[in-house]
Amino acid sequence: MDFENEERFVGAQFNESEDSETELSLRPKHLCDYIGQDKVKENLSVYIRAAKQRDDVLDHVLLYGPPGLGKTTLAGIIANEMGVNFRVTSGPAIEKPGDLAALLTNLNEGDVLFIDEIHRLTRSVEEVLYPAMEDNVLDIIIGKGPSARSIRLDLHHFTLVGATTRAGQLSAPLRDRFGVIFRLEMYTPEQLSEIVNRSAGILDIEIDPSGSLEIASRSRGTPRIANRFLKRARDFAQVVGNGEITKEVSSIALDRMEVDALGLDSIDRLILKTMIKNYNGGPVGLETIAAAIGEEAVTVEDVYEPFLMQIGFLARTPRGRTVTPAGYAHMGIPFPGQQVMQGV
Ligand code: ADE
Repeated sequence: MDFENEERFVGAQFNESEDSETELSLRPKHLCDYIGQDKVKENLSVYIRAAKQRDDVLDHVLLYGPPGLGKTTLAGIIANEMGVNFRVTSGPAIEKPGDLAALLTNLNEGDVLFIDEIHRLTRSVEEVLYPAMEDNVLDIIIGKGPSARSIRLDLHHFTLVGATTRAGQLSAPLRDRFGVIFRLEMYTPEQLSEIVNRSAGILDIEIDPSGSLEIASRSRGTPRIANRFLKRARDFAQVVGNGEITKEVSSIALDRMEVDALGLDSIDRLILKTMIKNYNGGPVGLETIAAAIGEEAVTVEDVYEPFLMQIGFLARTPRGRTVTPAGYAHMGIPFPGQQVMQGV
């Protein structure tokens, strides 16, 4: 099954921009081409080989971790390696139990159904999913009130691959029905640099090793961001430079996009600055931070916090979020109670 031909059920919600089209072609199709996440790859390759040897269907897989780390890519690889169809949908796109029933009854034996943002399924849709995952049956209620009847339809065996940025929000019954659970980790600059070089090769972009390392080290551990920066650096190389992405060209492109040496963008810095200036560095609640900078709380929690915590600039305490001494130092503001060292 080819990724370009993957069937998407998200339909009207899915807007194919120029970038998302190239995004599809950049996605590796085999596990051996997938860079990083070594523990996940090692175990997954065993589960895939074992299922294939037994002529069995792969158990349901839950992938969780911050956005942009390659959950959809990995799901596609699972389908491709198992030699089955890859059907893509998302939690918010499945509004009613009937929507899920339609998806499930259209699956062939062994197919992979990928549900992105699975934590956003409604309770009534989840309840249809349980018997489907466990016993490959669909229980549907026909009619209402005293004359309502339940009928049971057999489904083909399938593999559900669920992806979420927030495993904690998944209901326990749903989480318990996944036989395989993987947490994806952020990538090292070296791994991201490999991904950037691979993408540059596919897109026919000239880049030198210091250029790809510069992009990689400012991409906050995230392949999706690294690939986006690669395309923007190509624009700068073409217009400002001689076409090749060097360290200097990458640096100019990223500076212009207000991405600093550690990969923090203007919103990351606004979060830190607001917490320091308005709330003495915390503790301050997530909702308060979000309201102060005009973003949604979930966006702050899912998109910005993981990286700020990973690099040790932000800490979570029972009373709220705090900026760490390292966070203060990065913002060039002395940590309260700390002497400013003059002339050192
Ligand atoms: N593109 C996005 N994620 C990737 C990964 N982990 N390996 C290779 N290419 C990728």
